[in-house]
Amino acid sequence: MQGFDKNTPRESFGSQIGVIAAAAGSAVGLGNIWRFPYVAGENGGGAFLLTYLAFVLLIGVPAMLSEFVVGRKAQRNPVGAFRRLAPGSAWPAVGFIGVAAAFTILAFYTTVAGWTLEYLYLTIFDKLDHLQKKDLENTFTTFVASGWRPVMWQVVFMLLTGFIVFKGVKNGIERSTKIMMPLLLLIIIALGIRSLTLPGAAEGLKFLFRPDFSKINAGVMLQALGQAFFSLSIGMGTLITYGSYIRKSENLGKTAISVSLADTAIAILAGLAIFPAVFAFKITPEAGPSLVFITLPMIFDQMAGGVIFELVFFILLAIAALTSTISVLEVAVAYFGEELAMGRKKATILSTVAITVLGIFTTLSMGPMPELSIAGLSLFDLLDKTSANVLLPLGGLCIVLFVGWKLRPEEVVSEINNAGTLKARLAPLFMFIVKFLAPVAIALVFLNGLGLFGFFGGGDL
Ligand code: PHE
Repeated sequence: MQGFDKNTPRESFGSQIGVIAAAAGSAVGLGNIWRFPYVAGENGGGAFLLTYLAFVLLIGVPAMLSEFVVGRKAQRNPVGAFRRLAPGSAWPAVGFIGVAAAFTILAFYTTVAGWTLEYLYLTIFDKLDHLQKKDLENTFTTFVASGWRPVMWQVVFMLLTGFIVFKGVKNGIERSTKIMMPLLLLIIIALGIRSLTLPGAAEGLKFLFRPDFSKINAGVMLQALGQAFFSLSIGMGTLITYGSYIRKSENLGKTAISVSLADTAIAILAGLAIFPAVFAFKITPEAGPSLVFITLPMIFDQMAGGVIFELVFFILLAIAALTSTISVLEVAVAYFGEELAMGRKKATILSTVAITVLGIFTTLSMGPMPELSIAGLSLFDLLDKTSANVLLPLGGLCIVLFVGWKLRPEEVVSEINNAGTLKARLAPLFMFIVKFLAPVAIALVFLNGLGLFGFFGGGDL
């Protein structure tokens, strides 16, 4: 049963645990393990973490629930969902922005996902052993800029993603995430323990947990909001799409809370795995996107049993990335498959190919084709920053406004309490947040952050 095709019923996730595995799989990704530690490192550590946590709770959870509500109510992909719930209006544009974001996010995300495969290869063939910092930097920058090699890994990663999505919601997405997510959890806990037991680890804990409020400004707040949206997979319809596969008997509020908590826990665990080690080996934490590719191999090299930890770390990164890329690809596939009536298989092949092409240009923008840049940002940086700090907050804003103001409150509450069969005590709080608090907060943080940093002037957003 492929779904989307005329005579077969629409697919759904088969169990509650399957829903959580798939949605947490989407949320937990490079955003937690690659992006969170370096963005936190660049923005002051503890102060950033606190702002981030506040945004997850106040805005992230309600926005995630909003997406689930829209998706499950409409039983459609993001564009079709707005069409069905608000026919004849401009709202489907929000869905289109989501489909566009699926392309821009996957284009740069699979570049980094490809790097994880290269590093897996380098670890297995002992090529990172006994390299000095300079050599590790060299290895990374030469590889990233080399053109065909990162492109090859990126294509491999897209093929893996396409393969799982091709197999459908239950047999592809649910089945694979149910295996990969427990594995991921085990690995990150093991790494956290290893890092925390290094001598000198306490400095890292201080960095991550001791807030210095003087570090918080409008730019840091936008970074924290963008990171929260990116990490929770909010704002581009991924969770509308997954929501549309959640059965009517499932508790959407509980699901949103569990998934957000799991995602936050994994981001903190990633911080615990990385910062104590960084400080134990006296390295500066603001290394930027290269943190896990240059700094960590250096640490692993000096650590007893380091190769094993290095191996599982890059396996972890690859798995985390894969359970996220399938959720992003599924947005495009659901849209093409359902709205353009192509069916799953054709839609998967078409979107995989189209995204791979954009992805290849993105990867090449970091090396052989530096002319692919706008306002001083390479295509890669541009897609990363525009997606996280512009498209997702904007999409998230529209989605909470839609649930807060366009849908009737009775309809929303009925979706949350499963037509009166659940208690859903927090529903009034949720309604208040999506009507007032979340839209105002997102708009303020967004405008302030953009204004201060002059985004298109190439500022350091
Ligand atoms: N949440 C994913 C991560 O943290 C990335 C993602 C963003 C996935 C948007 C889907 C939608 O890596």
